[in-house]
Amino acid sequence: MLKIRSPAKLNLVLEVLGERADGYHELRTVMQSIDLCDEISIEEHPLACHLELHTNTMSCPVDEKNLVWQAIHWLREATGFKEGLVITIDKSIPVSAGLGGGSSDAGAVLAALVARYRLNVGHSVLHQTASRIGSDVPFFLVGGTALATGRGEIVAEAPQLAKTSFVLASPSILVETGKVYRGLRLASTPAKTTSSKDACASFLAHIAQPECWEMMVNDLEAPARQLYPSIDEVFEILSALGVKHAMLSGSGGAVFAPVESPEVARQLAVRLSTAGFWSRACESMDRAEFRESVFSG
Ligand code: C5P
Repeated sequence: MLKIRSPAKLNLVLEVLGERADGYHELRTVMQSIDLCDEISIEEHPLACHLELHTNTMSCPVDEKNLVWQAIHWLREATGFKEGLVITIDKSIPVSAGLGGGSSDAGAVLAALVARYRLNVGHSVLHQTASRIGSDVPFFLVGGTALATGRGEIVAEAPQLAKTSFVLASPSILVETGKVYRGLRLASTPAKTTSSKDACASFLAHIAQPECWEMMVNDLEAPARQLYPSIDEVFEILSALGVKHAMLSGSGGAVFAPVESPEVARQLAVRLSTAGFWSRACESMDRAEFRESVFSG
């Protein structure tokens, strides 16, 4: 049996540069791994090409809608991999919350299977396979702090964020990512160009300094809050608790904020949970910690 841990992500900066001809949006985003992880076990099944998924969460599909299912489908296509598999996903990352849970599971399973079965798949084919599954799956082959561009699938290593504590909170709603992107028009976010002020570059230039938190931006925050008013309640309670620099992750509904220490993060998470929100304390993971998590379970 293979056991892996797939870490969630935050978008510390997310800029939408414009709509593309293929219906996606051109992005620039600083992504960050955190130590909130799903646990995945992979067992072999005697029947070739058999695939069975199990999960502990009703809102997580166990058929072709699950990105792990798609990851294995594309891996079989790309490499002829035929091993029968039974995969159990113990989810801690909330589904459809902007924390990349499904994409992280898919990326981790891809990376783990390629390593375990020594599959003959080059770096670029692996990344192509990942990007067919979803725009942010390639990030989960890299991890740590990274800059993603294109529709999110072009991932470059970035300077690593120093160990940082975060508090996470979410209204426990299922956010539809496509709807939030379409809502950009609704929120009349001004169109940017690649020459617009580059918030990702500014953030990364200050990543070792506390001022970096002033430089966080998420262009999806306005449409997400407009479409899902319960996200506003999370921002309101965080503000009432004196938390600064709260920011939506991805298309939401999870909101995160950097805090002084793990203890402060834990205390805030208890108060937010008591107030009825899903909430967790977590810490950033650098690239080495990310790799260790996926490969040593
Ligand atoms: O690529 P993924 O399947 O994760 O994207 C989900 C939806 O989010 C897409 O169908 C699209 O509507 C929207 N999206 C977008 N631009 C991106 C990424 C996602 O419009 N760069």
